Amino acid sequence: MSRAPRSPGLGRRTFLHGCGAAGAGLLLPGAFAGCGDTPAGAADGGVDADDRAPPWPVPPLDDGEVAGGVRVFRLELQPGAVDLGAGAATASYGVNGAYLGPTLRVRRGERVRLEVTNSLAEPSTLHWHGMAVPARGDGGPYQSIAAGATWSTEFEVDQRAMTAWYHPHQMHETARQVYMGMAGLIYVEEPTPPADLPSTYGVDDLPLVIQDRRIAADGTHPYSAGNTPAMHDLMAGLKGELMLVNGVPAARGAVPRGLVRLRVLNGSNARTYHLGFADDRSFLQIASDGGRLAAPLPTTRVLLAPGERAELLVDFSADAAGTSVGLRSYSGEVYPTLFTGMMGANLADALDRTTFDVATFVVGPPPAAPFAPPTAFEPIVRGSASDAARTRDVTLSMGMGSVFLNGTRMTALEPVPAAISFQIPAGDTELWVVTNTSGMAHPLHVHNQPFQVLDLDGAPPPPSLAGWKDTVLVAPGQVVRLLISFAGAPDTEYPYMFHCHILEHEDHGMMGRFFLV
Ligand code: C2O
Ligand code: CU
Ligand code: CU
Repeated sequence: MSRAPRSPGLGRRTFLHGCGAAGAGLLLPGAFAGCGDTPAGAADGGVDADDRAPPWPVPPLDDGEVAGGVRVFRLELQPGAVDLGAGAATASYGVNGAYLGPTLRVRRGERVRLEVTNSLAEPSTLHWHGMAVPARGDGGPYQSIAAGATWSTEFEVDQRAMTAWYHPHQMHETARQVYMGMAGLIYVEEPTPPADLPSTYGVDDLPLVIQDRRIAADGTHPYSAGNTPAMHDLMAGLKGELMLVNGVPAARGAVPRGLVRLRVLNGSNARTYHLGFADDRSFLQIASDGGRLAAPLPTTRVLLAPGERAELLVDFSADAAGTSVGLRSYSGEVYPTLFTGMMGANLADALDRTTFDVATFVVGPPPAAPFAPPTAFEPIVRGSASDAARTRDVTLSMGMGSVFLNGTRMTALEPVPAAISFQIPAGDTELWVVTNTSGMAHPLHVHNQPFQVLDLDGAPPPPSLAGWKDTVLVAPGQVVRLLISFAGAPDTEYPYMFHCHILEHEDHGMMGRFFLV
């Protein structure tokens, strides 16, 4: 449960500097390599320097700058170009760089200001997915930032330690803008990070932003300027066969020969992953979207739909130095639960029916002071249906070449049909009954506060879904009941959003809004 202090002298300051500079120009595959310290920093024999794998590729870590008691982050949305493995440049968008953006680290209890400058030639937004923020600072479609403008929001971090993320949320343009590369992680930490969990960024605390892309030989993709995704891609959600982790194809890098914490985000537009290791080793899931589970969960698989996050602890201590350990998606194993009937069969692709590689970890030298797997966390108080002030139905459906939410669609900021525009008294707890009548699974996301999954088709949630969630995958034909306590300040001017996190569905109007009143 506890461990000795980690080895000093990892030179984080230097590495941050070097990484912050890696922003402009054409990024090559493995562009982030060198932005983390190699575990080999704990000098050790056993592996020749020449055999050492490169450090695990991670986005730069950004702690902001504290001024007047406020931790300030300056984020710039900017155009760029990357080589995603096609051998040709792909025009991209990034945050403080050409593709993806820095990992922002904030602490519970502190004031934070996020300043977003839009240096793109089109309007955009930046939404803080998983963060509890005032509605006017949420960065949703109602907070569009004009080309050339700067927008900012300031709030107090008042939530559990967890892994959140940010991405654009521009009305009708979210799928394309995220596909172009704008996304990043937010690490929410307790004021004092846990001593019993690996938490050295880029060494034993590794972010994994998983995305799939469809890049042609000339570097273009269906969202490149001048292209439009086919109707089928808009219905199924745009999926591709090229796997990126942290923006890097065929991602591969070193991990210490000990316990490693992986913070996995499914940042894909539409693909759901069923992750496991090539050797089927068991690992611990320690957190879901909204933070720690009640206890570490031993498992061999984690199902992650677009927008969902999971924290995993993987033990590499029994692996010989130099061993390669593959991370895969065993998608075929869950095909029958994610796609049903003729409609589902039409919306699935080849990868949805099979197993494929996502990334490779190369085991390096052991850490100076190994961690022991934790055995318990704080209990989670589970709510019940009787806590709810009212019940609300949310129906996800598809048909006639379209997606629907409660039988309608959000096609503009105003007006929004009453069936998908809610007024919720701030502080109330509601029971949302989410029903999926379509042939494919949809990940429903609710902004601001996390929720609890009460039951799925009447059965209590499995342990992986029994903690705090902000995005939940609803299988075809399934009824999932959510208990949501709508914390936050009333604001009758700015709403929060809820939507399917398949971004093509969101853009097509499978989205609604709620005002806290
Ligand atoms: Cu991750 Cu409304 O979004
Ligand atoms: Cu969100
Ligand atoms: Cu959907």
